[in-house]
Amino acid sequence: MGLVTTKKMFEDAYKGGYAIGAFNVNNMEIIQGIMEAASKTNAPVILQVSAGARKYANPIYLKKLVEAAIECNKQSGKDIPVVLHLDHGPDFETCKDCIDGGFTSVMIDGSKYSFEENVALTKKVVDYAHKRGVVVEAELGKLAGIEDDVNVSQSDAMYTDPKEAEEFVKQTGCDSLAIAIGTSHGAYKFKGEAKLRFDILEEVAKRLPNFPIVLHGASSVPQEFVDMCNKYGGSIPGAKGVPEEMLRKAATMAVCKINIDSDIRLAMTANIRECFVNEPEVFDPRTYLGKARKAVEDMVTHKIVDVLGCNDKA
Ligand code: G3H
Ligand code: 13P
Ligand code: ZN
Repeated sequence: MGLVTTKKMFEDAYKGGYAIGAFNVNNMEIIQGIMEAASKTNAPVILQVSAGARKYANPIYLKKLVEAAIECNKQSGKDIPVVLHLDHGPDFETCKDCIDGGFTSVMIDGSKYSFEENVALTKKVVDYAHKRGVVVEAELGKLAGIEDDVNVSQSDAMYTDPKEAEEFVKQTGCDSLAIAIGTSHGAYKFKGEAKLRFDILEEVAKRLPNFPIVLHGASSVPQEFVDMCNKYGGSIPGAKGVPEEMLRKAATMAVCKINIDSDIRLAMTANIRECFVNEPEVFDPRTYLGKARKAVEDMVTHKIVDVLGCNDKA
């Protein structure tokens, strides 16, 4: 099966009441950890690359690493479906570059623009992508926090208007839509109690039947990793994510794609910090990167089985 689009994945996820995990990748260990978890749980998976990841690792390296992961998966006797997706495409040119370069899915993030400008930009990407068999995720509404180089303060947070969402999908022809219901990027999502606007999600689903919704900023920031980071020399007090029960609930509703990046960063950093403190003699990167890779595998396995519910759906 190898590289596929999200089309059938989302149809199945919608009907089955589960969500596909979309994990951000920017190096070999992250890709290997995620693929090992998806392979052993027999789960479809979305590997997503941000503009920042492309800049860090070089787009050619990332594409080849994903190809290598798919080949290794096949050699192991499995054949899980994998989507290569551009996360938060900032402009048409970046989307075009990824479509031309073999991505099967792109996100155009026009959420910082006016409704009309967002529609026009998204439609331009949809027209280019669909002619080439590539699917498009768009975004409407603003997530509080940091989205690549877009900085939206908490007070400017703007939930998605369901009526606008219906109109936006009709006008653009996008294949999935990221909406703002209270999640945000990074490790500091809530000051007080965690709250998501499930009423908005329900209303969007009512207006857009069977249409796949995407949840960004969906890391749960496990306390275990926060404590480990803080214990072994880090300082991330008060880090807080989306409770996993809320993500589970969203996955049973119209949400078909759940984005996770911060939990990967935390899993790796916590384990590398612990290794440096407990094993000060270590100076082989394979020792600590190997531990980080295993931590990613374990964390992603847990998400797939206990949160997303997409195990055995490959
Ligand atoms: O939503 C953004 C992702 O977490 C990617 O972050 O731009 O630092 O690669 P990045
Ligand atoms: P987190 O920061 O919650 O992991 O969100 C990641 C994301 O939405 C990537 O697009
Ligand atoms: Zn995001």
